Amino acid sequence: MQLSGLGYFGLRTRRTDEWRTFAEDVLGLQSRTTEDGLRLRVDDRDWRIALHQSDAEEFAYVGWELPGPAELDAAAAELEAAGVVVKRADEALLRERDVLGLVHLEDPNGIRVELFHGARTATTPFLSPTGARFVTGDQGLGHVVFNVDDFEATYRFYTELLGFRVSDFCDLGRKRIAFLHTNPRHHSLAFAGLVIDPQRKPKKDIDPGELFHFMLEVDDYDTVGYAYDRCLDGGAPIALTIGRHSNDKMLSFYAVTPSGFEVEYGYGAITVSDPWVATRVDGTSLWGHRRPPRPAQAAAEGAQA
Ligand SMILES: [Fe+2]
Repeated sequence: MQLSGLGYFGLRTRRTDEWRTFAEDVLGLQSRTTEDGLRLRVDDRDWRIALHQSDAEEFAYVGWELPGPAELDAAAAELEAAGVVVKRADEALLRERDVLGLVHLEDPNGIRVELFHGARTATTPFLSPTGARFVTGDQGLGHVVFNVDDFEATYRFYTELLGFRVSDFCDLGRKRIAFLHTNPRHHSLAFAGLVIDPQRKPKKDIDPGELFHFMLEVDDYDTVGYAYDRCLDGGAPIALTIGRHSNDKMLSFYAVTPSGFEVEYGYGAITVSDPWVATRVDGTSLWGHRRPPRPAQAAAEGAQA
């Protein structure tokens, strides 16, 4: 099967008010209040990110797009033939996602994967509150990155069953990150898991299926800089300073979202086309992407100077 790209994703959150301010004022997205939370708009689609009011902070679902009904039916049949449990959306779910067709399944980490076609295009132009323009179109919404507990099973699931192709790998100690594409975007999906001595527990507890970050790409370097300044001015904590990634060459920074996981905000990534030869890097960034000093540490350093 050939997925068109990342269509949407959904989160459960206690903090829809903080999310509205963060999405509009920092990221430059349009927001719309719904019965159960918020929908965020990034481009000509009616929505791309859903925030469902809840008593938890967690990732809820990811929607991968297919070109049309025939491709969705074929994908569902292919998955069922491979022994995967595939559930068809009822009318209520189709209405909630506002799509024409949808099936859903679980990946090996328990992440809810939705395959859909027929998303609604808005009839009004996208107007960013900050003047940002996002790179979407045939590259899809952006990318999502997860922590997983079984790297091999996850890799097989996405490449063999869902048809993702590998762009490259990054090895960091015992951990490997796989970067996968399904359109010209260098990666629409990445996941990190332990490949060396996976039975030995990591230092930090990792929730399988936990969202590490999502990425939005803008069409201008200055848009990244202005957003960075808005974070420094109190819009959101910086998780990683501005830097350039070693594989997709994206120039970006990472901010902490109201839910606690991170968003990467970037510009200028390379695109890929198949056939593509996957290589390996041993560090995610050429320069930058540093953890900023914590306030106490910064104060101590200031006192020493
Ligand atoms: Fe990223």
